[in-house]
Amino acid sequence: MNLAGKRVLLIVSGGIAAYKALELIRLLRAAGSAVTPVLTRAGAEFVTPLAVQTLAENTVFQDLFSLTDEAEIGHIQLSRAADLVVVAPATAHILARMAAGLADDLATTLLLATDKRVLVAPAMNVRMWQHPATVANLATLRARGVFVVGPEAGEMACHEFGPGRLAEPVAILAAITALLAPEPRAPDPLAPDPLAAPPLAGRHAIVTSGPTQEPIDPVRYIANRSSGRQGHAIAAALAALGARVTLIAGPVTLPDPPGITVRHVETAAEMREATFAALPADIAVAAAAVADWRVARAGGAKIKKTASGAPPILDLVANPDILAEIAAPGPNRPRLVIGFAAETENLAENASAKRQRKGCDWIVANDVSPATGIMGGAENAVLLITADGAETWPRMGKEAVAGKLAARIATHFAKS
Ligand code: C5P
Repeated sequence: MNLAGKRVLLIVSGGIAAYKALELIRLLRAAGSAVTPVLTRAGAEFVTPLAVQTLAENTVFQDLFSLTDEAEIGHIQLSRAADLVVVAPATAHILARMAAGLADDLATTLLLATDKRVLVAPAMNVRMWQHPATVANLATLRARGVFVVGPEAGEMACHEFGPGRLAEPVAILAAITALLAPEPRAPDPLAPDPLAAPPLAGRHAIVTSGPTQEPIDPVRYIANRSSGRQGHAIAAALAALGARVTLIAGPVTLPDPPGITVRHVETAAEMREATFAALPADIAVAAAAVADWRVARAGGAKIKKTASGAPPILDLVANPDILAEIAAPGPNRPRLVIGFAAETENLAENASAKRQRKGCDWIVANDVSPATGIMGGAENAVLLITADGAETWPRMGKEAVAGKLAARIATHFAKS
């Protein structure tokens, strides 16, 4: 990459990923670009001005009200002397300040005063990244023409898993190079475009999640122990890869994942109706633990105890099999239909048989025998069954399973 003669104004905001800015500076200098570093107050808590200044071979600017800096180069001039302004890492806080148009320190003042293109490389905890405030701020910034690279999904410094990790310095460098390219180059079909749309952009995914509740009478119901954690995490992971997601959620105590259309349902019949109403879709993931049976004639009045003490006889009928119906051949069948198999014995055989029986493309199988603690727990140990065979995934958090599954789905669509 040749950035000879280019000038990058690099704003380093506070966050554990700030140390990666040092590597970015090194790469920029190696590519021939001049780097003018700006450290926010929090940024200077994570990397020292001396390290930044030494690698950049340039003065590091930190203070809006520094008379020396103002005398040497005024902040307006500083914001315009560069060819590109880069914020890496960009914390949720600086993104919020940019979206609000604040100018309460040197970095945000430069960002408000610049007439150059701006590239941000967000890095934060997965929940902060998925918070509706951050989602809205990013949308505002994108709408104003700010370019975004990353974040990537993976294990975070806070030991959570998901999107929020700073893009690798080489990926940020590639994005900078693309923005500073002197003239449009013929696209290389084999080279990944760092500014390309996320891998599942333009795809619609329907995810069912949680249990269903089947009424016995107005106060009692049949249900199961599903928490919805896995299904909700899958919905969030698919959205993080750019998919438009409709989540059909049974009764759960989880919050709605941000940036996702959520339909709340109680019974299997309602879940079926909401699922089919959400079609067409490219991807369907049936992660819900749909009750197999419902009471044939759920009473409108509370069933009373009889004087004899004899229990009522509940007449059960089978619920519709949403997964089998959605996987059945037809013009509206999503291209990739994924079911779950919660088994307590003979996991692989039962799950493979279920894949055939239901007509779905993949089955995510897990052992839910009580000793595993998986049902309602935070972890999952999965066997992924496709037409090509079975694959064992190590035990990991449900968010990690969701991230891995979403990545597999993206690869599947990239190949086909
Ligand atoms: O048949 P079983 O309940 O074991 O199958 C599990 C899979 O089928 C899960 O993906 C679940 O979401 C789906 N399913 C469904 N509708 C039902 C029963 C199960 O979509 N009525």
